Amino acid sequence: MASALKIPFHNVSHSAHICSDMHASTKFLEEVLGMPLLMLIDLPGGGQHSFHDMGNGGMMSYMWFPPEPGKKSLGGRASHLAFCVDDEDFDGALAYLRDERKLEVRTIYHGLERPSCEDPNDPDIWIRSMYFTDPDGYQLEIASLRTALDPRKHVLTQPKNAKGEKVPYTPLALRETVAA
Ligand SMILES: [Fe+2]
Repeated sequence: MASALKIPFHNVSHSAHICSDMHASTKFLEEVLGMPLLMLIDLPGGGQHSFHDMGNGGMMSYMWFPPEPGKKSLGGRASHLAFCVDDEDFDGALAYLRDERKLEVRTIYHGLERPSCEDPNDPDIWIRSMYFTDPDGYQLEIASLRTALDPRKHVLTQPKNAKGEKVPYTPLALRETVAA
């Protein structure tokens, strides 16, 4: 029997959930739970993806997809849970899951300019991700982050409401503090 993966995980990278209104969910995480928005990007096809700081390197993430006529929103569903590994351990974990354990693994090297980069050394890559499923079909991810997220650099759009309209929004970290 093959032995288990020996690569150390550094807890949760992010927990990703589908929302029906990115503006409402962004406000909720920032203004109710106090989790600062670190990144907000537009996805190909009109969707959006956000990352909030939940402390100790962990992030809470929302994904929003344009409503489809006649179809119920997927808002409220979990999308996936990502575990964090060091970047130098990413390829070893991929080889183990794909070649040794014969899992179906899909990789995406996420760029800031481009949603997917071919070359693993492309300086545009901010996170490398491999996706696979557990025995029940729930999606898991192993991720290695290459860029410390900063709302000044990585909040690249405005959050959309349920209808898909962008709503002007200033992340908590960028709001001016009024001197008492
Ligand atoms: Fe993810």
